[in-house]
Amino acid sequence: MSAVLRHILDARQFTRQWLDDVLFPATIELQQTPAAQFGQPLAGKRLFYLFYEPSTRTRVSFEMAATLLGAGVHGIDSQEDQVRAERLEDRIQVLNEYPFDFLLLRYHQEGGAARAAAVSRVPVINAGDGVGQHPTQALLDVYTLKRELGRLDGLRVALVGDLSYERTTNSLAYLLALFSGLTLYLVSPQLLRMRQEVRDYLERSGAQIKEVRDLRAIASELDVVYVTRAHTERLQHAQRFEGDRAGSYALDADLLAALPQHARVLHPLPRGPELPAELDADPRIACFRQAANGLYVRMALLSLLGDTRD
Ligand code: CP
Repeated sequence: MSAVLRHILDARQFTRQWLDDVLFPATIELQQTPAAQFGQPLAGKRLFYLFYEPSTRTRVSFEMAATLLGAGVHGIDSQEDQVRAERLEDRIQVLNEYPFDFLLLRYHQEGGAARAAAVSRVPVINAGDGVGQHPTQALLDVYTLKRELGRLDGLRVALVGDLSYERTTNSLAYLLALFSGLTLYLVSPQLLRMRQEVRDYLERSGAQIKEVRDLRAIASELDVVYVTRAHTERLQHAQRFEGDRAGSYALDADLLAALPQHARVLHPLPRGPELPAELDADPRIACFRQAANGLYVRMALLSLLGDTRD
């Protein structure tokens, strides 16, 4: 895979070699550089963000990443107008008529970013497409794990919550599958199992997959707990359906105590009661370091997208 990126659409487009040799070194270098010394490698370039759903982290970290690298930022977000009133492809083609260099798109339906890329002359970045994927979140997630644990091979990772409809866990599963010796515990209600195509991909990669109802049963075996929002109507319905057999998809003090000392707890945020703020003082809770890393991963991605060498 070339160091040059055309679009960022799907976590499956990345290789382990590209992560190890291109993205991680570029991100570490940016993270170690004082902000005053970034230079302006994207001076004269412009990012447009088009968000059909709200966002804090993805939008703001990309805005800040572009700004720190010297690019201009413009955009429309979900609160600003009737963004759903016009055909997506028409919007993208119109935006292509203006001198933007990157389109950052969060769309409410799976496949939105691929549809945009099919008609766009400039790079499209998938900032989350419905229940599909969130590839830049997964890139910052694996970068965070590498930084926190020093390795990505041989990890025992629990993905927790609504694994049918959670785009962050789809993308993260695809990236984790690039690494050897992975044991992935899929902790969800039966009604919200990880979708078949993701499980098939994981199995083809050689990962060991274990479907689990209750996080408590495996806590002591884990290197990583990746918690996602558990207090959604869908998940609560699935738990009601399971009645007495309903599992646990949240962290509490007892569960934290059962995790190994080296383990890390990640959450893409925003969180709900599944990751109580009272636990934040425990250094194993890495969700804010994870969000902070997102800025540098996204700076590296914009730098690579802005590099038009073949
Ligand atoms: N993790 C994440 O995508 O957060 P936002 O919805 O705030 O972008």
